[in-house]
Amino acid sequence: MSCRIVGLIGGTGNLGRGLALRWAKASLNILIGSRYREKASTIAKEITDKIGREVKGSTNEEVAKVSDVIVLTIPFEGMKNIIESISQHLNGKIVISTIVSPIFSQKSAGEILRGLIPRTTYLASAFHNISYKALLDLEKEVECDVPVCGDGEAKKIALELAEKIPGVRAFDCGPIEYSKIIENFTHLLIYMNKKYKRKSISFKFTGI
Ligand SMILES: NC(=O)c1ccc[n+]([C@@H]2O[C@H](COP(=O)([O-])OP(=O)(O)OC[C@H]3O[C@@H](n4cnc5c(N)ncnc54)[C@H](OP(=O)(O)O)[C@@H]3O)[C@@H](O)[C@H]2O)c1
Repeated sequence: MSCRIVGLIGGTGNLGRGLALRWAKASLNILIGSRYREKASTIAKEITDKIGREVKGSTNEEVAKVSDVIVLTIPFEGMKNIIESISQHLNGKIVISTIVSPIFSQKSAGEILRGLIPRTTYLASAFHNISYKALLDLEKEVECDVPVCGDGEAKKIALELAEKIPGVRAFDCGPIEYSKIIENFTHLLIYMNKKYKRKSISFKFTGI
């Protein structure tokens, strides 16, 4: 894992920055992708300054081209266009989606992605239930479990990446069709954060 390049598509956002910080701190090779080169460089420099380990930024296309593992941290609305723009770089690679579909969407983001990316790409769906606020607070461990579903090869990498984050346990939670359950749970967490005036409610499995 340590020699692979992990590229975050839309890595300038809340979740992307949080994951990049934690993974750079764990000495992984991280690239920040954006629709705008300069924005990517600015965020990459912020992370570099915080961690003391170089993180670089570039366009989403360039990041997808040179990365071995591509983590999608973009909103559902942007998914189709972004995949179209990076699709030629995805053959034989690992793609991990953090994208949450709208609550009434018939298909999960994971299932829709399966139809958008090349057949040769290994797909996993993970990190939907992890709070970006918790990720950004490097003083504390991130107290939550991360369910991972999708293709075997991609799940293996997503599980490894999750467990690089202090406090996180990750579990194999089946095929990509189960992404719907995981994605929908995020809507519940958003509701609970509002209801209980919290910012990083998540969950842990018991009995495992
Ligand atoms: N926030 C969380 O705690 C959290 C937790 C779990 C899962 N998620 C999921 O993770 C994904 C990212 O969440 P986020 O809160 O980080 O999102 P965000 O901050 O709103 O957006 C992330 C990045 O995506 C790019 N982007 C925004 N709109 C876009 C569009 N229409 N087309 C293409 N790119 C666009 C932007 O990058 P550039 O402008 O630099 O291109 C932005 O910085 C979402 O699908 C969300 O459901 C979020």
